[in-house]
Amino acid sequence: MRAIRYDRYGGPEVLQLVDLPQAPLAPDEIRVALSHASVTPLDCKLRAGLLKAHFTVDFPKVPGRDGAGVVSEVGPAVTDFAVGDRVCLLARHGTQGSYASERVSYADDLVPIPGGLSDEAAASLVNAGLSAQVSVFETARIEAGMKVLVHAGAGAVGGLIVQLCRHLGADVTATCRAANRDYVRALGAARAIAYDTEDFATLRDQDVVFDLVGGETHARSYPVLKKGGQLVWLVAAPVVDRGAEYGVEVTRAMIADRREPVEAILTMVAKGEIVPQIAGILSLAEAAEAHRRMEAGEVTRGRLLLATG
Ligand SMILES: NC(=O)c1ccc[n+]([C@@H]2O[C@H](COP(=O)([O-])OP(=O)(O)OC[C@H]3O[C@@H](n4cnc5c(N)ncnc54)[C@H](OP(=O)(O)O)[C@@H]3O)[C@@H](O)[C@H]2O)c1
Repeated sequence: MRAIRYDRYGGPEVLQLVDLPQAPLAPDEIRVALSHASVTPLDCKLRAGLLKAHFTVDFPKVPGRDGAGVVSEVGPAVTDFAVGDRVCLLARHGTQGSYASERVSYADDLVPIPGGLSDEAAASLVNAGLSAQVSVFETARIEAGMKVLVHAGAGAVGGLIVQLCRHLGADVTATCRAANRDYVRALGAARAIAYDTEDFATLRDQDVVFDLVGGETHARSYPVLKKGGQLVWLVAAPVVDRGAEYGVEVTRAMIADRREPVEAILTMVAKGEIVPQIAGILSLAEAAEAHRRMEAGEVTRGRLLLATG
């Protein structure tokens, strides 16, 4: 099998394409021939050593949090999946990642891909979809008529949050770069505010702000909320909780690897209720270039994928 690995923290250049021997399967294990993996900001932060305080990286490390492909072999104790099933997978923290031509998984980490959905679409939706589903349905509990501001509305997670909130009947405003205004409006935002030319902080009376940026953007989001509103944040730049001062609830969306939110978002996409967002596709050998683009802020309008097959 081919995989991308790194054996020390560093820049994108530490990512190396290697050939690895195929591991034998334990009775309850499932081998997935991967066609695509997504490149997430977390992959880059882990590789750069920015998350040493939170996550242990066992070197050599194969990066990647998710992927899509087909079951190529099952252990004798496996009952839920069979060879030929199309699946997407969650690669849990501390396990081998998905920047590889195949990966060994357990049934709990696999979600069937609904008919009609491509591998590319599925791969773009696993980690980003999990984050968006949990944030919208479990953390913020968005309802029809709510006024919602979504920061980073053109990103992989933010774009899905925009679509989910619109689907639920919320009144959505999103921030994005000026060139992406039309894009986020097409996703369902009633208003798009360009972070590079406009000031979102003049908004008022929002029920919920989704903060996927942190830092200064987080700090400037408090006056935008009505009293009793909710500021939902995902881990990005560090934040300072000023909820008590402004009379708002500040909640971190806790994104744990679970199949159910992924199943839910795949079903919504299969029904045509929301659309997948794919920023581009590079080859597995171009993983370092993918990380360089992500760290340079060049990845926009969804997930960048690696074709791993
Ligand atoms: N477990 C967790 O807490 C968790 C889970 C998932 C994601 N996250 C974090 O959430 C963040 C977004 O993740 P992602 O996967 O959606 O990343 P992404 O696809 O790379 O999107 C990032 C987006 O940020 C936007 N952006 C940059 N600066 C901005 C600003 N000042 N104001 C508004 N938008 C700005 C960019 O918009 P333009 O393209 O329009 O320039 C870009 O599309 C990352 O920091 C990630 O680590 C945390």
